[in-house]
Amino acid sequence: MKISSTRLVLLTAGVHGVAAREALQSAAVNANGEGRTLTPQNNYNGWVNPEDLAPMPQCIAQQDQSTWLSTMTKCTSKQCTSHFGFICTHHQWLTQLSCLSIGFSSDVIEGYLPYCGRSVLAKAQLYLWIRKITGRTWLVDVGDANGLQNLSPASLAEGYAAVDVTYNAPTCLTGSVSALSMEPFQHVMASCSFTSTTQHTGNAARPWEYSESLRSMIALDFETVGYDLTRGSIGYGDYFDKECFCSAFAIEPEPCSSSGQLDLTKERLWINATCGSTLLPDNWTDILKTTEFACIPIEDWHWPMCVVDMPKQVIELTDQCATDACEPDSSGYCKVKRAVDRACFCRDISYDSCGGSCQIFETRIDYINWLHDLCSNVQDWHGLPDNWRQLAAPTPLDMIPWRWTIKPSNDSNITYITRLGSIKSTETCASNEWKLGSFALVNIATFFAAFLRQRTSIHRIARGFQWHQHPWCWFFKGTLIAALQLLANWFNTLLVQKTPGYEDVPVIQLMLLWCSMPRLAWLTILLIGVQPFEAMNFSAAASSLFAEVILQFVSSYYMVMTVNYGREHDFYFGALERADRGIPAKIMYAGALIWLFIISLALVQLIRATCKVNRLTGSGSLDLPKWQRGKQTTSSIAEELMAQLNERCTRLMEQLAYYWMDKSRDSEETPLTSSEGGDYRVYGTFSVKGQNNWASQKASVELYAATVISMLLLWIAQWLFWGGFISLSSEEFCPPKLGVLTAVWIAFSVAGATIGAT
Ligand SMILES: *[C@@H]1O[C@H](CO)[C@@H](O)[C@H](O)[C@H]1NC(C)=O
Ligand SMILES: *[C@@H]1O[C@H](CO)[C@@H](O)[C@H](O)[C@H]1NC(C)=O
Ligand SMILES: *[C@@H]1O[C@H](CO)[C@@H](O)[C@H](O)[C@H]1NC(C)=O
Ligand SMILES: *[C@@H]1O[C@H](CO)[C@@H](O)[C@H](O)[C@H]1NC(C)=O
Repeated sequence: MKISSTRLVLLTAGVHGVAAREALQSAAVNANGEGRTLTPQNNYNGWVNPEDLAPMPQCIAQQDQSTWLSTMTKCTSKQCTSHFGFICTHHQWLTQLSCLSIGFSSDVIEGYLPYCGRSVLAKAQLYLWIRKITGRTWLVDVGDANGLQNLSPASLAEGYAAVDVTYNAPTCLTGSVSALSMEPFQHVMASCSFTSTTQHTGNAARPWEYSESLRSMIALDFETVGYDLTRGSIGYGDYFDKECFCSAFAIEPEPCSSSGQLDLTKERLWINATCGSTLLPDNWTDILKTTEFACIPIEDWHWPMCVVDMPKQVIELTDQCATDACEPDSSGYCKVKRAVDRACFCRDISYDSCGGSCQIFETRIDYINWLHDLCSNVQDWHGLPDNWRQLAAPTPLDMIPWRWTIKPSNDSNITYITRLGSIKSTETCASNEWKLGSFALVNIATFFAAFLRQRTSIHRIARGFQWHQHPWCWFFKGTLIAALQLLANWFNTLLVQKTPGYEDVPVIQLMLLWCSMPRLAWLTILLIGVQPFEAMNFSAAASSLFAEVILQFVSSYYMVMTVNYGREHDFYFGALERADRGIPAKIMYAGALIWLFIISLALVQLIRATCKVNRLTGSGSLDLPKWQRGKQTTSSIAEELMAQLNERCTRLMEQLAYYWMDKSRDSEETPLTSSEGGDYRVYGTFSVKGQNNWASQKASVELYAATVISMLLLWIAQWLFWGGFISLSSEEFCPPKLGVLTAVWIAFSVAGATIGAT
């Protein structure tokens, strides 16, 4: 209570007359407002003791009170209160009530009303005083007090706020004067202030007194306006009527317009939160220094992932651009915070400010997004390259799992690629269709070679069964075919590397990559399989298969690399969605994944089938002695393993042979078949009679079918991989002299197919 009283005294001190100030100072000692009844206690024929009059209302105390006091003084005179006969024994200064009711006429009140009428509460307080003293139910004009008797919380149309919010206002505002009336801010605030309940700010027991030295009535106390006049209640404290303040204080021109941006921001936020934006200029939000956009609080500041590669000048920008800014609190007032000035920071940063990992793939995407979030809305900022949207997604180069490309390093005919992704078509690069077409050509040529070779060997085989070849034949032939393929790739790589401008092409890498080219091995093997038995060339099938196994093993390097790269960069989980050329990339990664899946499946199948065949043919009993023998005779385990492998494969082929023999016997009994079969039986190392026989043959055929289907699927997967890769990389994969390369491939493949078919 003391604090609020003191403050109001201080607020009003500036306007009090000297007399009032002295009086209040002397009276302030004994402030005690409770339990006082305002009815005059001693009424001497219409004269009352001044101290029995109601205390002065707040709005009068805050103005020049001379008229008020002189009106009261006129009605006050020394009266005899005690007689002894005709002799007066006691004189007292008394005030005549009827005089007061005439003295406080509308003329007197009119002078005080503009100030007292600002706040509906102050006006109501004045009205209650007038009614009590004069019995009048209006102030200046009849009817001007309507509604003042029945105030409610809704009477404060714009609401109220605690006086403490002035601490959120800058001193340029609180120290300013209202533009029109030249009335100081604090003064206007005082005129609109009220307390939670009516309080006394002086000698509540003795609100008035006649001072003989001043020859005037003086007020020793006044009553604050209480919110309880509205019959509502609010927490203890000092408040002000917003409507009153906002209409009484004019801020045009703005008091803080020349006081710096932070103060201007504080002022505008204060006005907006208190009075709304109508008092402010239309574009008042343009230059606010708030944490909403212009500034970023230090604690919310974050760097992109590539911060380690950011130059020192950029890192230091946060210190250079550190500033104080307003963070609006829940009511909209300014809370000063340390922050980074966005415009200042953005002025000195652009995409090219940071190199290194800031320009590489994921960290680049993160960097671009960070830069875009930070600066894109800053006026006149153009720090992002034009193609930043492409850079904010994986670029074609990012989606290629390896870091080398085939393109001329210095060719005036190639538009230089300044930034990743901005790849332009060039005349010198073969079209994607032609690149894929060359693969197709190689495939077709290989097929025809194998087919023709097959025809001729059928005739040759028909003259005499060919199984009596060296049992290692398929191994050597397979190796030879694979070697031819590798040789072709190596030759072509050299051809590329010798082309001017392509000196930097990595030989081994390119050679390995070309090994994953789709080849028609499955069709070759199928061709052999669909021959009538007598024409079948198991050795050819085995050698083709073996060559294919070698080449697939080599190509696993790139396939596994691709799948792994895709896994690391989430390409299998949606990272390609927004990317330019995302579709070919998806096809390429899908191809590699399918390849890996089929290879794994084929390996599992192979192991299972081998075990099955072994079990059915009772290989254990046969192998053991061999092993033991091997231990004694050969020192090399590798040699022994090869022998084992060879024996297994031979046995598989034998199984196949018998299956086909039986089938042919079923369908068309030819003497040739049975006689050849008889021959073969002698050659075989075990008896083919018995129950086991059919089952093991069946297993072998299943294995054969599974092999062909796996190879077909691998072939499809490789096409997907290459199709995707070529349209993804486009100009990044530009082998020169494609025609020559294709011719070399065709030549070597035809040679391989010819060897395989003999
Ligand atoms: C201005 O005040 C209004 C109403 O209180 C509020 O919704 C708005 O966010 C304030 N504007 C600013 C910039 O603080
Ligand atoms: C705001 O608008 C006034 C005119 O309406 C113009 O004079 C002033 O420059 C503007 N201020 C800003 C910061 O845009
Ligand atoms: C590119 O080739 C031209 C001549 O054809 C040469 O002058 C220039 O230095 C080369 N630039 C580079 C980067 O090798
Ligand atoms: C660029 O291409 C044109 C034909 O397209 C050719 O005549 C010229 O020699 C090429 N220039 C270089 C430097 O390769």
